[in-house]
Amino acid sequence: MQSDSVLLQVDSVSLSFGGTAALTDVSFDVRRGEIRAIIGPNGAGKTSMLNCISGFYRPQKGHIYFKGQDLTKVPAYKIASLGIARTFQNIALYTGLSTLDNLMAARHIHMKQNSLQSMLYWGKAQREEVAHREVVEEIIDFLEIAHIRKAIVGALPYGLRKRVELGRALALEPDLLLLDEPMAGMNVEEKEDMARFILDIHERRGVTIVLIEHDMGLVMDISDRVVVLDFGVKIADGTPEMIKQDENVIRAYLGQELI
Ligand SMILES: Nc1ncnc2c1ncn2[C@@H]1O[C@H](COP(=O)(O)OP(=O)(O)OP(=O)(O)O)[C@@H](O)[C@H]1O
Ligand SMILES: [Mg+2]
Repeated sequence: MQSDSVLLQVDSVSLSFGGTAALTDVSFDVRRGEIRAIIGPNGAGKTSMLNCISGFYRPQKGHIYFKGQDLTKVPAYKIASLGIARTFQNIALYTGLSTLDNLMAARHIHMKQNSLQSMLYWGKAQREEVAHREVVEEIIDFLEIAHIRKAIVGALPYGLRKRVELGRALALEPDLLLLDEPMAGMNVEEKEDMARFILDIHERRGVTIVLIEHDMGLVMDISDRVVVLDFGVKIADGTPEMIKQDENVIRAYLGQELI
């Protein structure tokens, strides 16, 4: 790690599927406490990058350091427990369970007491359950989803399901939150709500955020620094002001509106 302020360091990551290069030699860092956006046209490799960070994909080349630890050597199931949570481009929730149960499940899956231990120390397990419940209830209040806490998630409108998914990621109390198009498919009002929640998570909870988003106005508004991918290659990296004027970026988005 270069500096104490660097939370995540992506170092020369390459990933391909058969003959398709999804990522080629991509490097960037994420500083503690910033909102770091990843943008780029469809198929640029944004989701693949997030999948490499969360351990869902293993890059064929390169390393990803989180708090100094090389994530490419950590089993995927352990990465959440290091303090990384994510949401998916296509929502991933238990559709047959309630909002509350989805959030509780997130805590149980990643932080559960060893089952033998919980039989031996029943009191301790009980206290843990109460503590989990407190964290989850606080998140439900924070995201203003108390009215749907008992509702079955599969029956909720899309915008609310996205919010529940954010709640599920927050239930892990992450240091680093990876958001893959959290506002895609939302109407203007839902987008504004989601942007407010992301900013609140960042400011009030001090969570570092990596955000993939196609809404350029929003990206340029809320992020500290932006990485731009195109065909799996990093073509620009800098503040929103720099990115807006970057010739390579303008070329990559040719014909599209870049605010
Ligand atoms: N599991 C996979 N198997 C084969 N090819 C894949 C797989 N995942 C991604 N790819 C390919 O890798 C490239 C990058 O895809 P990726 O989903 O990372 O792009 P993206 O920037 O997230 O695009 P979008 O904006 O459409 O979500 C694409 O060419 C895609 O077809
Ligand atoms: Mg994607």
